[in-house]
Amino acid sequence: MPLNIEPLNPDKQFAARVTGLDIANGVSREIAACIENAIDKYAVLVFPDQRITDDQQYRFSEHFGAMETATGDINAQADRRLSMDINDISNLDSNGQVRDRSDRARLFGLGNMLWHSDSSFKATPAKFSLLSARIVPEQGGNTEFSDMRRAWDDLDTELQRECLDLICEHSQIYSRGKLGFDDFTDDERQKWQPVLQRLVREHPRTQRLSLFLSSHIGTIQGWPVPEARLFISDLTEHATQADYVYAHNWHQWDLLMWDNRVVMHRARRYDHTKKRDLHRTTVAGDGPTHVELAADHARTN
Ligand code: OGA
Ligand code: MN
Repeated sequence: MPLNIEPLNPDKQFAARVTGLDIANGVSREIAACIENAIDKYAVLVFPDQRITDDQQYRFSEHFGAMETATGDINAQADRRLSMDINDISNLDSNGQVRDRSDRARLFGLGNMLWHSDSSFKATPAKFSLLSARIVPEQGGNTEFSDMRRAWDDLDTELQRECLDLICEHSQIYSRGKLGFDDFTDDERQKWQPVLQRLVREHPRTQRLSLFLSSHIGTIQGWPVPEARLFISDLTEHATQADYVYAHNWHQWDLLMWDNRVVMHRARRYDHTKKRDLHRTTVAGDGPTHVELAADHARTN
């Protein structure tokens, strides 16, 4: 079965469909290397019709680096449906029933509907996320992705210079605060203290620069908070304009894989009485980004 990589937006080099492999059966190191080359180019990959178990999904994900555990979930210990290796991206409780409208974990989960990059609130943020659709509602619930490389490329030089060395504070407390959610335990507040991330990153393999934005950002180091929030909100508006966005309409057994270093994503609304069940495995990044240096070539442009 030859691997087939088909761009979904040929003029933009953003998002591609990958067929000609059966992930349930495992893939070779060579195929995994081809997939990583493809994601370097397209940032979002869609693998349709991959009927996989959590274990098979995990084994496939491990080809791409060290794995994260699901410490960002609000139901991390009690009331878990899935193992700590799997992020539960669903509206279901541990009995598989749809959560009540006012359920705390459901309200926390609504944060996924704000533009974000996975685990930007962890000291080491995520590299790749792999999301497998087990149950999808008939309508709504798309996932949208926005290309942060184009968002960077299209900024004018003066704004690029202003962004280049900025360090942001990220926390799940900030992103949920934007929705008016503050129902956190003392442990959660402790666990989700802000972490520092660069605003501009250089991709280690392509050397392309991108804006590292996320709804988890609460402020910029050294800036007054309202000015920082306004600046980030303006950048986010620019970075999520329609022309940069790929919207994925899910089918059961789609597996999506994206590079959190170069895209933001968000879920869209759907009928909250219908089941939506997606399972996510997450490959960790190389380390905290605030110690990385932004590219010298950008400085001298
Ligand atoms: C995620 C996420 C969006 C969605 O899995 O990290 O943000 O559409 N998912 O469920
Ligand atoms: Mn996410």
